Amino acid sequence: MNTFKADIEEIRRRAREKMDEGAVTAFYQADRAKVIEVLNEVLATEMVCTFRYKNHYFMAKGIHSEAVAQEFLQHAQEEEQHADMVADRIAELGGNPNYSPVGLATRSHSEYSESDSLEDMIREDLVAERIAIATYSEIVRWLGNEDPTTRRLVETILAKEEEHADDMAKLLVRIGVQHDGH
Ligand SMILES: [Fe+2]
Ligand SMILES: [Fe+2]
Repeated sequence: MNTFKADIEEIRRRAREKMDEGAVTAFYQADRAKVIEVLNEVLATEMVCTFRYKNHYFMAKGIHSEAVAQEFLQHAQEEEQHADMVADRIAELGGNPNYSPVGLATRSHSEYSESDSLEDMIREDLVAERIAIATYSEIVRWLGNEDPTTRRLVETILAKEEEHADDMAKLLVRIGVQHDGH
């Protein structure tokens, strides 16, 4: 019983001691600096994806493809939400969300690309989504049980990227069908 009491006191002492570290307690198992570094790469990926979809939205609008433009816009907004969720977690872990445009493309897993062909835009988006799916899956496996909160966050984003990839694949078929009709 004394041991149990001592343990509780030790836990409380450590909790108080680490209070300035916010959500991170002494029980945090992962390599925090490494997790923050990896999350900053995810943040860069989400920013690049936001910008790419934004460019595609305005370009598709310009070529009067309103339905496709709306799909791009929705994805741009969702990528931006992902960026916010990731930045929030980085700050929670005591890190600094890296929004610097310097080196952004290098930190990002996926690429920024422009095109004036609707089909090429959709194809590039599909490639970018597949890259995100591959790297985020890898991050989920790497985190394992060492940081369940970050893992859940990445899993949530991963599920959305799978939806995005599916949307782009379907859009590609729809555009293809339109081509055959002409
Ligand atoms: Fe995303
Ligand atoms: Fe996505």
